[in-house]
Amino acid sequence: MAGKLDGKVALVTGAGRGIGREIALKLGGEGARLVLNDLDAGPNEEVVEELRARGIEAVSCPGSVTAPDFAERFVGKAVSAFKGIDIVVNNAGYTWDSVVQKMTDEQWYAIVDCHLTAPFRILRAAQPVIRQLAKADVEAGQRNVRKIVNISSMAGVFGNAGQVNYAAAKAGVMGMTLTLAKEWGRMNVTVNCVAFGLIRTRLTSTDASEGASAKIEGRDIKIGVNPDLLAMMERTIPMARGGTPEEAAGAVYLFCIPESDYVSGQTLICSGGLAGI
Ligand SMILES: NC(=O)c1ccc[n+]([C@@H]2O[C@H](COP(=O)([O-])OP(=O)(O)OC[C@H]3O[C@@H](n4cnc5c(N)ncnc54)[C@H](O)[C@@H]3O)[C@@H](O)[C@H]2O)c1
Repeated sequence: MAGKLDGKVALVTGAGRGIGREIALKLGGEGARLVLNDLDAGPNEEVVEELRARGIEAVSCPGSVTAPDFAERFVGKAVSAFKGIDIVVNNAGYTWDSVVQKMTDEQWYAIVDCHLTAPFRILRAAQPVIRQLAKADVEAGQRNVRKIVNISSMAGVFGNAGQVNYAAAKAGVMGMTLTLAKEWGRMNVTVNCVAFGLIRTRLTSTDASEGASAKIEGRDIKIGVNPDLLAMMERTIPMARGGTPEEAAGAVYLFCIPESDYVSGQTLICSGGLAGI
């Protein structure tokens, strides 16, 4: 059966687990060929293998999105493996929280680098490739709308105590989205954002009271949420639960399909109906 994204080339960062993994599986299931990144090479490779086992073409581009050479490497991989770029999903990320008076410069820059500077560099590196592809489409008399989806957060839309670094970076991504929607419209590219509320992933559903942490860029970063706090958060959600990674991927998918070809510069809130925090 034909998929909605047959033959498209999709690049997804942070695809080794959580929402990024589900985005990769969803786009691949609809026919896209994938270039997948994650900081953790093992989980990233597992997703690549899972896709290949389903007959979906996928290649791996592991490493941190914050590495200065990453953007060129990622875009280069898409060009060498599949000779194109149709969809870019800037999803990789984590949180490193503190109230403002305790937040160090290191914490600030680590989060801004990952959530804002890295997507900027990836899109900057993709621009010349997309421009050439768009020009070739026009010359061939084809209309092909390319799609950028940047991942933001309710914290970026409404602010969140303890997350000044993350909220600022996620708000910045929305500003970048609005700007590139204006710069890239002529190349037939839509640029949109999905801002998640509470989605149940490692980031939110690990029991923080057990002192869980993840090794991220050489640092031990605390992950998870206290279960009582999580339960309280879920009670404030109209749908009374956090979303699943599959549901989160569904919101991203909406911006990748032809039905959204004339929607650009938007932020879609995917939060189970929660309209503020
Ligand atoms: N889960 C939520 O409730 C929620 C809410 C709002 C926004 N988000 C955003 O959704 C995105 C995905 O988060 P998730 O919940 O799936 O988390 P997750 O921890 O389950 O997955 C994130 C993935 O990104 C990878 N990653 C982290 N830093 C990286 C880096 N520097 N380079 C490459 N890969 C890196 C991790 O290794 C991990 O596999 C993030 O941008 C996050 O900020 C999540």
